[in-house]
Amino acid sequence: MNPHLKGRHFLDLAAVDAASLRLILTKAAELKQQRANGQLPSMLAGKKLAMIFEKNSTRTRVSFEVAMMELGGHALSFNGNELQLGRGETVADTAQVLSRYVDAIMLRCHSHDKLRELAENANIAVINGLTEYSHPCQIMADILTFEEHCGSIKGKTIAWIGDGNNVAQSWIQASALFGFRLRLACPPQLNPLPEVVQWARNLGADIILTQFPQEAVKDADCVTTDTWVSMGDPDPETQIAMLAPYQVNEPLMKLASPKAIFLHCLPAHRGEEVTAEVIDGPQSKVFDEAENRLHVQKAIVLWCLNVI
Ligand code: CP
Ligand code: NVA
Repeated sequence: MNPHLKGRHFLDLAAVDAASLRLILTKAAELKQQRANGQLPSMLAGKKLAMIFEKNSTRTRVSFEVAMMELGGHALSFNGNELQLGRGETVADTAQVLSRYVDAIMLRCHSHDKLRELAENANIAVINGLTEYSHPCQIMADILTFEEHCGSIKGKTIAWIGDGNNVAQSWIQASALFGFRLRLACPPQLNPLPEVVQWARNLGADIILTQFPQEAVKDADCVTTDTWVSMGDPDPETQIAMLAPYQVNEPLMKLASPKAIFLHCLPAHRGEEVTAEVIDGPQSKVFDEAENRLHVQKAIVLWCLNVI
């Protein structure tokens, strides 16, 4: 533990205690209500967030930037290549230098190890804006969305269909920390990392891994999926071929609970991982989910800076 660290990192759900995760969601809901009433508390006045994107982004970039702006702070956004980092300056030096200018760093990058290295060398909070390993901010927004529509997630059943990717791995970590059942249907070659599943099961998580989407969605309260090809995936064609039987469509949704909602972190590919009927249909809450990135990330930054 770095004795000079000002603030707390948000690198993975597994590295944050369940009480803090619940506190973040409660604060996010409160901030959402306040914003609807026209109130934007200046809780981050004078605070600065540097954001580094090695991969594309719409939601993460805009929601963090607006979050900082609305709470009285400021966000600076860079793509990895325009910094000297893109020309070989070390992650450690970048961490040290940014620590002298800003209050927190959000990184979206290809390698989770790089995120860890940044966090180990920074004296300020580092936030995971997506790596190939996990996407914790996304799942916090997903849980807020689920609870708005379906009540407490504890004891409920979430079905993940498709690639056992970064988003799936954050769902797995969340299942242990929030106490919901998780059913994942993935092609065996695209299963999530066994150590991630084992970590959650060791904490008592109720997780079933199957290759059959019909089995995973049975009576589920939420059905969720993601793009068949994630940013940085080396072999899109093979990936798409393996995932073809994993489309979320109306016949599949009919096997879930009649009140089930559909979630997708976006960007979506209609006709691939989900049909237009489902993502644009009445069970879909994907735009509430996208909006909730804003509210949740306000609360995450407040937690990282020890404001809550
Ligand atoms: N869901 C998500 O993280 O979207 P972006 O890639 O647009 O940030
Ligand atoms: N799994 C996707 C999520 C995008 C928000 C990716 O990593 O590209």
